[in-house]
Amino acid sequence: MGYAARITGTGSAFPERRMTNDDVARKLTEFGLETSDQWIQERTGIVERRISNVGNEAERNSSLAARAAIKALEMAGRQAEEIDQIIYATCSPDTPLPSTACWLQQKIGAHRAWVMDINAACSGFIYGVVTAEQFIRSGHSRTVLVIGAEVLSHYINWQDRTICILFGDGAGAAVVERVAPRSRRRVLASYLSSDGTLSELLIVPAGGSALEVTPERYAQNLHKIRMSGREIFKVAVRTLSECALRTLEQARIPAVKLDWFVPHQANLRIIEAVANRIGMSMDQVIINLDRYGNTSAATIPTALDEAIRDGRIKEGQTVLTDAFGAGLTAGAMVFRR
Ligand code: ACO
Repeated sequence: MGYAARITGTGSAFPERRMTNDDVARKLTEFGLETSDQWIQERTGIVERRISNVGNEAERNSSLAARAAIKALEMAGRQAEEIDQIIYATCSPDTPLPSTACWLQQKIGAHRAWVMDINAACSGFIYGVVTAEQFIRSGHSRTVLVIGAEVLSHYINWQDRTICILFGDGAGAAVVERVAPRSRRRVLASYLSSDGTLSELLIVPAGGSALEVTPERYAQNLHKIRMSGREIFKVAVRTLSECALRTLEQARIPAVKLDWFVPHQANLRIIEAVANRIGMSMDQVIINLDRYGNTSAATIPTALDEAIRDGRIKEGQTVLTDAFGAGLTAGAMVFRR
């Protein structure tokens, strides 16, 4: 018969330092480049973002995740020792080895858990919850901690003004637990997809085993993010709409029955286009990119956490989440809180 999975707790954490659009514009002048608060707000909806001080141990990826995880566990009424499994979605790990999940395990004392990182870029949190759901359904795990956390500022090329305006750092966490198969409050449906033919659209070319960082490549910023922004924009609107509609179809829930839409926060114009295509009003869309920018795998869990804590997303309400990211990966999930 199997089991079902429910999100029972959420948490989030951000670094202290705020960087406004005006701060970004000032920094760009160091490289002879121009931007403005008005341009960034009109094209993206972003007003400011948080940037980690990675020299400060408390603002590493796993440290932000630990703060988010503790809050999520508190909300779920669970202790770290009760976690069976940690799934840590990130594309900006503390270290290539060991996994960032291991650093987090050490920090929160989740001694019983087995842990792993997954990299699905901005889709990572949805991939993580859907993976957790499968382990729960099969009876393998009872309590899973899913993290979406990034310190992507480390990969920003400050000489590329289409990149440096977008990204910020942060961490979100969710406790996903076993419930009876027909529970009303559970993950109702999901749809995941990947298209590896689009890998070059968003890439950090050097630093992996394929291309070492040499002084020449460092000087060319090949260890930083490169992106074809306009192409991604188009693919994103199409893919996000498709994933959302397929998920709703699978759940047999029409968009009019949804209470909330929590999309990946990459660009407000992308979100508006997708909400319009799937038939949701912007009043039902949870937005946090104005204050945090694109925090990649962290956007959905942090937005979700904020809306749960401020009372917008209530128990028993139905929520659609939807993301796309480098790869190109994409996925959507609908759940009842
Ligand atoms: N400030 C001022 N002008 C700028 C800036 C800037 N920061 N950036 C670009 N411009 C200029 C360009 O040079 C261009 O000038 P031109 O017309 O004289 O050539 C003009 O503005 C328009 O440039 P576009 O690239 O067409 O601008 P667009 O409206 O597409 O906005 C943006 C660029 C914001 C990057 C947009 O394409 C976007 O958001 N794309 C999606 C990116 C995305 O979502 N990435 C995350 C993926 S998720 C993950 O996995 C991490």
